[in-house]
Amino acid sequence: MKLFGIIGNPVEHSLSPVMQNEAFKYLNIDACYLKFKVEEAKLRYAILGAESLGFSGLNVTVPHKEKALKYVEPDELAGEVGAVNTIYFKKGVKGFNTDAMGAKMALEGVTDIKGKRILIFGAGGAAKAISYGLSRYSDTDILIANRTFSEGLKLANKIGGEAIRLGDIFREIKSVDILINATTVGLNEDRSLIYSKNLHKDMVVFDIVYSPLKTCLLKEAEKAGAKTIDGLKMLVYQGAASFEIWTGVKAPVKVMERAVRHAVERG
Ligand code: ATR
Repeated sequence: MKLFGIIGNPVEHSLSPVMQNEAFKYLNIDACYLKFKVEEAKLRYAILGAESLGFSGLNVTVPHKEKALKYVEPDELAGEVGAVNTIYFKKGVKGFNTDAMGAKMALEGVTDIKGKRILIFGAGGAAKAISYGLSRYSDTDILIANRTFSEGLKLANKIGGEAIRLGDIFREIKSVDILINATTVGLNEDRSLIYSKNLHKDMVVFDIVYSPLKTCLLKEAEKAGAKTIDGLKMLVYQGAASFEIWTGVKAPVKVMERAVRHAVERG
């Protein structure tokens, strides 16, 4: 049996085990995926120990994604993003960042992204991975709006995008095709950085927050008649990309999505 797991802290509520185990079962792959709470001081031992124990792969989640970079050989994208969320123990300890691909795949499920103007809220870990993934693998025009403007500017410069102040989003929004919230605003709160009167029906609005599943931003986007994508899609697609790295097999995305949605509904 092949062994996989997720390391993070906290990790109890991770939906990755449900999603990955369902995918293994569906494809008759003899594998098991577990979750492990790992303290920061023990991160190195956890990663190298998993390799010694014969694990095939790991996911890395908050707060270890950046620090894990030190203990892996990152691919180019993970190196650029400065964070790792997937480890594959194959001829060493290889590190990847599938968050970067997850957002792109989630968007491509509902719209063509080539040539689109994309406004991203945030410049933290999630925003970095998403904006690198979108700018590197497709021809898009990216605007970064972050509360701390200097951080937004740093990210925009790295990806060849443009930084704007949060206060200026209302002026820019008319020309935006895709809006992505990659901040923590809306997480367990009924608040958004923008409301329906400033959104429009020809846009796609994607919120990476999935607690609640229908965030304030997504409710406002629906009111404006925009297409919406919830945060579970991102979770599913980053997981699907990890699955494909580990198995070399196309991930059963629908099966994985059904599993996480059931788990969320059950609470
Ligand atoms: P994650 O790993 O989820 O991306 P993070 O790296 O801590 O988390 O980043 C959080 C992001 O949410 C940042 O862009 C942060 O903006 P700052 O750089 O100004 O801190 C943004 N954020 C958090 N709370 C916010 C708020 N109340 N209003 C606007 N942006 C907020």
